[in-house]
This record gives sequence, structure tokens and C-alpha cells, in this order.
Amino acid sequence: MEYFTLNNGQNMPVLGLGTLRIFGKDAEDAVVCAVQNGYRHIDTASSYQNEKAVGRGIAKCGVPREELFITVKVWPSDYTRVRTAVEGSYRRLGIDYADLLLLHHPVGDVYGAWESFEELVDEGKAKAIGLSNFSKEQVAEFISRFRIKPALLTIENHPYAPQNELREYLKSEGIVLEAWYPLGHADHKLLEEPVILELAEKYHKSPVQVLLRWHVQIGNSVLPGSKNPVHIKENIDIFDFCLTEEDMKQIAGLDSGTLYKEFTDAMRQRYLAWEPDWDDQE
Ligand SMILES: NC(=O)c1ccc[n+]([C@@H]2O[C@H](COP(=O)([O-])OP(=O)(O)OC[C@H]3O[C@@H](n4cnc5c(N)ncnc54)[C@H](OP(=O)(O)O)[C@@H]3O)[C@@H](O)[C@H]2O)c1
Repeated sequence: MEYFTLNNGQNMPVLGLGTLRIFGKDAEDAVVCAVQNGYRHIDTASSYQNEKAVGRGIAKCGVPREELFITVKVWPSDYTRVRTAVEGSYRRLGIDYADLLLLHHPVGDVYGAWESFEELVDEGKAKAIGLSNFSKEQVAEFISRFRIKPALLTIENHPYAPQNELREYLKSEGIVLEAWYPLGHADHKLLEEPVILELAEKYHKSPVQVLLRWHVQIGNSVLPGSKNPVHIKENIDIFDFCLTEEDMKQIAGLDSGTLYKEFTDAMRQRYLAWEPDWDDQE
């Protein structure tokens, strides 16, 4: 495993397990399998509605809490009651602090929520704080307004949309770019791009491993999601080979700026209005 040093001095494993759309026993088992195979970074969110199951996995995984890096996200409808929301997530996950707390979407009382995040850092209830799905301009606004700078921005990122300008900006500010949908949600078109297939053959790796290696080499933190034990093991087995500059250039040729998921204002307003009972999950 390789690590980033975040702008608060904390270490973060570059690769973590994504847990979106994995529920119940699958989520519990995925966490146990991941940790037993060397993962130390787990990405969670209240909106994934699987925190209790992920928490059971954390409790069963056999590694002390302090060796894990756990990301918790707060949903927009909770921005006016961050403390209650965070305490609920911690209770369901069976933890008493987050390694990284994120604002999940840029809508609602984002600045009030960030003030609460700063208080949680001061109280030792969150180590680092960051943003999810915010734009460059929105990140810049947080940098100019607040005492604690975001440590990380997580966004959709893969060879079709590497967002290099944003990556350069974040790098210049000492903010880590973390890639969600790193595999385009296992889109066959992406996994079967001729350049990805050729490199997989060249390095005796799978197309997914080539993609994950590309993420790590461009400086992304990466969160492949999986509930399949074979895939979970495969996805962390990427630290024994290195793509050349020429390989990286070829993959760069896939950049079309195409995102799988574009967030519209209407979608964000729906997110703000969505207030489920987060405890209503298995
Ligand atoms: N902040 C945000 O707004 C946001 C948004 C979306 C996602 N995320 C985070 O990012 C994580 C990753 O996104 P994602 O899970 O949606 O997409 P992804 O990681 O790009 O793709 C996940 C899909 O790839 C498959 N897969 C994984 N490893 C594979 C392998 N080695 N070979 C073949 N197929 C493989 C998985 O199926 P199997 O289960 O069968 O392996 C699953 O269908 C999420 O889990 C979540 O933690 C964050």
C-alpha cells in the first residue's frame, strides 16, 4: 500500500474500498474481506444506507480501529444538524471518530456545516475534513473563508474524465483528489478500450488493475467498489508494477471529458429535500 500525507499531516492509504450499493451481509463481508487482504481505507456515507452492515464488518475485521482510515459523509439535508448526523453515523458504524468527514454535495447550508466540521476537528471527533462533488470555484471559496482548508475533494474520475486542470489546482493547494467511479462503474466500454486491453496483456494484469494503477500514478486516491472477494483481492494487487510514461500518454488519449453522472441543480434540490431515517437499515 502507498500513502498520501494529507495537509493536516495525517496519512491516508491511496486505495480504499468503496461501499456504494452494497447492502447487508454483502457489505459486512466485503469489509472483512478487504481488511483481511490488506485494505485499511473504507469509504462510507449515510446515504449508502449500509452503515450498520459496514460497522459489523469493521467490528469483525480483526484490525484495531486506529489502523483503519474511515471516511464518513454528511448528506445535504443534515447540514443544519451536522453533529446529530455525525453521531448517528458513528453509532451505526461503531466508531467514535472519522478519519475523514466529507460534505457529500454542494447544496444547502454548506458553510454552516463546515463550521460544525471545524468544531468536530477541534474536539478530536474528526481528523480531516473535505468535500465531495464540489467545483474548483467552490473549493476556492472554502479555502478563502475558513480556518481549516479541505484536505481532499472526491469527484468522479477515470480516463474518460481525468479532470486534469482541477487536479493541478488541487495539487497546487495541497488537496488530494480522490476518484469515485474509478472503473466507470465497471463500464464494459472503458474496460475494453484497446489501449487498456493491450496494457493488461503487457503487464499480465487485468484491465481493472491497469485502470487502478493509472489512478495511483496520476496521483489520485482511488475507491474501487466491490462485493466480490476475487475482485476485492485483485483490486489491491496493483503495487507490483508500474506503467511507463508512454503507457500513461496512451491512456491520456481516452480523455473526452465524458462523465457518467452529471449533477443538475434539480437533482441537488432533490438531495436537499431527501430526509430518510438513516437508522432504518440492516
Ligand atoms: N462521493 C460521491 O458522491 C460518490 C459517488 C459514487 C461513488 N462513491 C464512492 O466511490 C466508490 C466507487 O464507485 P462505484 O462503486 O460506484 O464504481 P466503481 O468502483 O467504478 O465500479 C464498481 C463496479 O465495478 C465492479 N468491479 C469492481 N472490481 C472489479 C474487478 N476487479 N473486475 C470486474 N469488475 C469489478 C463491481 O462489481 P463487483 O461487486 O461484482 O466486484 C461494481 O459493479 C463507491 O463504492 C463509493 O464508495 C462516491
